[in-house]
Amino acid sequence: MTSLRLKLCASLLVLAACAPLPASQVVPPAAAEWPALQSPTAPDAAMERRIAAIVAGMTLEQKVGQMTQPDVRYVTPDEVRQYYIGSVLNGGGAWPDMNKHATVADWAALADRFHDAAMQTDMAVKIPLVWGTDAVHGHNNVSGATIFPHNIGLGAAHDPALIERIGRATARQVRATGITWTFAPTLAIGQNRRWGRTYESYSSDPALVARYGEAMVRGLQGELTGDGDVLATAKHYLGDGGTFNGVDQGETRATRSDLIRREAVGYYAALDAGVQTVMISYSSWNDVAAGHDGGKMHGNRELITDVLKGRLGFDGLVVSDWNGIEQVPGCTRVSCPQAINAGIDLIMVPEDWKAFIASTVADVREGRIPQSRIDDAVTRILRVKMRSGLFEREPSASIFNGRAEAVNAADLAREAVRKSVVLLKNENRALPLAHGRRILVVGASADSLSNQTGGWSLTWQGTENTNADFATGSTLLGALRRQLGEANVTYSADGAGVNVADFDVVVAVLGETPYAEYNGDVRFPKPVQHSALYPADLAVLRAVAGKGVPVVSVLYSGRPAYANDLINLSDAFVAAFLPGTEGAGLADVLTGGRHDFTGQLSFAWPGSACSTGEGPGDVVQFARGYGLSYADAGRVGSLPLPATPTACQTSAP
Ligand code: GLC
Repeated sequence: MTSLRLKLCASLLVLAACAPLPASQVVPPAAAEWPALQSPTAPDAAMERRIAAIVAGMTLEQKVGQMTQPDVRYVTPDEVRQYYIGSVLNGGGAWPDMNKHATVADWAALADRFHDAAMQTDMAVKIPLVWGTDAVHGHNNVSGATIFPHNIGLGAAHDPALIERIGRATARQVRATGITWTFAPTLAIGQNRRWGRTYESYSSDPALVARYGEAMVRGLQGELTGDGDVLATAKHYLGDGGTFNGVDQGETRATRSDLIRREAVGYYAALDAGVQTVMISYSSWNDVAAGHDGGKMHGNRELITDVLKGRLGFDGLVVSDWNGIEQVPGCTRVSCPQAINAGIDLIMVPEDWKAFIASTVADVREGRIPQSRIDDAVTRILRVKMRSGLFEREPSASIFNGRAEAVNAADLAREAVRKSVVLLKNENRALPLAHGRRILVVGASADSLSNQTGGWSLTWQGTENTNADFATGSTLLGALRRQLGEANVTYSADGAGVNVADFDVVVAVLGETPYAEYNGDVRFPKPVQHSALYPADLAVLRAVAGKGVPVVSVLYSGRPAYANDLINLSDAFVAAFLPGTEGAGLADVLTGGRHDFTGQLSFAWPGSACSTGEGPGDVVQFARGYGLSYADAGRVGSLPLPATPTACQTSAP
């Protein structure tokens, strides 16, 4: 072939005019726009031969069973054996025997029962089961486990090493319960404050998401096969945090270049760190500018197979989200050849898994799914299980298995809380809280571990919990009483009937009530203003402000919400995000002494109720990177109070 022709052939644009390359080397033009990546894990020829031999000996039913992931509430260990199930999960709010207070030993015992069942199938080669869980800020499913700050706070800590340490601690917590896979980290680039999952994002800055996501993957996975290692999940692929108007599971209107340079930046880092699983997003992708509507991600073959598995060299497994396949046009939650042909390997089909198995077997038999796709999916599932050591040692072989002390990480979480809270204002030396002063604490959130931990805490939504359900941790009120003396700290939830003048300083703890996913959306055109969403907080602040006694406000929130009215009523204002169980970390920085504020916003803080992002039309009150310490003057003056409309006029760009 002439050198010119060779050069031309090397340019993908004229591929068709050249001698045909083997299918495995042909890169579709759309995928060719993506910077290439190779798997960091060198192929293991012996492992691949072993996998191929196992797959060759499996029936179609056994293969499809391996690709099926029910929720533990809807499958028994014996059904795992009978239907050759390859994986289970516990969705938020699922516990052993549906007991919220199940002990670590209870979790480990259930994991043993599922493992043993999988090893008792009539298969020639038994395949161990892998259990996945949402340990997204510590092992938040387990009563008594330390719960860390949500990602929005960890992003403000600007400490990748801390995040890696949290990953290590979380992995140990998960292995204590006999589980070897967590659906974390979320790599969303949170772009619209309306989104109910903003708090699961580290930042609106892709570079920060990449650094922190990589650190979490390394912390969770370690060497993959150690006693304190678990599989991590890069989620939700792709563009979950970029939907129009921040609608959860909505439409991400982005060019392919936007995907590459923004939405996918975290995935390049996580893949390079060796993440072994990727979860698909409920959202859809629409390149409006190019007139290319990619549709729901769960059916997008270009982005899952051509890009993720091809161009980016991902050789682990791709898992769907909870019944996510049903959102693909023409599909139901039990039947979706399109999703499997798009490249999804493991289907999260929590309840109706028997019907899914039957329909998928029929899809293969009737030619709607190629046998080669099934074999590739099972090969990937087995590869991930082998890489994580499951074939060599059962999950309970870990030194952490069943050990209650392994879910305690209070000191590390307390450090994380100190580093994750951001001081936005500190005038009239309101902070630090001096010892020996008379302190009035107000606000329902001051004594609420639910508001302090947010969603994905014991239950899916983080609701239906009392402080007693968290067998560990402390509220901010409890922590202040311990650090400053019970007699010096008076509490009034609503601030009514107390004479503020009897005190030296007031601490007003304001907060969102917990939510997860779409339940946290603030749907357009509703203004995103904390006092409008939580008027009781404004009432409490008005009851104590302007009485000649300094007011320190602390806000628990899963998003930066417009709060100039609250900030103006406060002498000091702390954005605490969702700090988790260790309220002591917050008391540490409020009382000063050994600990100063170091947190810096990883999302810009809005200056009006309809500014929901960081785009041209948005008013920013505090820029990304803003955060005060005790050394700063802390004066912000009276902030502007633009009128809040009953309905915002403009949608997100
Ligand atoms: C949920 C979430 C996902 C989670 C999964 C399993 O719907 O979208 O983040 O990992 O289901 O609970």
